[in-house]
Amino acid sequence: MRLDKLLANMGYGSRKEMKKLLKSGAVIVEGTPAKEGKMQIDPFKEEVTVNGEKIIYREFIYVLLNKPPGVISATEDRQHETVIDLLPVELSVFDPFPVGRLDKDTEGLLLLTNDGQLSHQLLSPKKHVPKTYFATIEGEVTSEDAEAFKKGVMLDDGYVTKPADLVIIKSGTVSEIELTIMEGKFHQVKRMFQSVGKEVTYLKRLSMGSLKLDPSLGLGEFRELTPHELEQLQNGE
Ligand code: URA
Repeated sequence: MRLDKLLANMGYGSRKEMKKLLKSGAVIVEGTPAKEGKMQIDPFKEEVTVNGEKIIYREFIYVLLNKPPGVISATEDRQHETVIDLLPVELSVFDPFPVGRLDKDTEGLLLLTNDGQLSHQLLSPKKHVPKTYFATIEGEVTSEDAEAFKKGVMLDDGYVTKPADLVIIKSGTVSEIELTIMEGKFHQVKRMFQSVGKEVTYLKRLSMGSLKLDPSLGLGEFRELTPHELEQLQNGE
């Protein structure tokens, strides 16, 4: 690949900044200063350093975000802040996108990546990847609701949901639950509760497949996946 493309992918600034960097002699390929952006290199075989720092090339990034409310699950928006706007340029230069969507007011686990294959694997309805949510519900959630969700409920558009697992943590005028669903219809959790006459007042995603929300991440914070987390996700565990 071209040296300037590699540097751009690794977050070393705009084309203009990169030209300056190359001209200054700060970029060394296999021990020799490289001044031409069009130079062809193999980033997996040749050693490239910038200001003495070795570049570890990678094609894909995988970022676990604790999505805050008020931010939308998109790559671009004219009006609202997006989940990508939360990332520093070192990560956003990889052009990541959210794997699925959380509503604007929903919090919690959102995977951001530029790996289309993994994204497809996680979102494909055929793969039945479980997603677990914590929710606060206006109204008393009962074991009848859990039974109904296990059988499948009809949403406002006539769609009947696949079996879902409802765990009641606290039942009262305001209830707390965890719900695991194997699909991802638009506003699914909110609409499932609507179908039994109740309203979701707070929603947070806790997990997607084997990937769990890291409790050390505050709202709006993120980190890259560990090699173990990535391996488990890729293996469909
Ligand atoms: N279900 C919803 O209703 N909203 C979300 O953001 C995710 C699942």
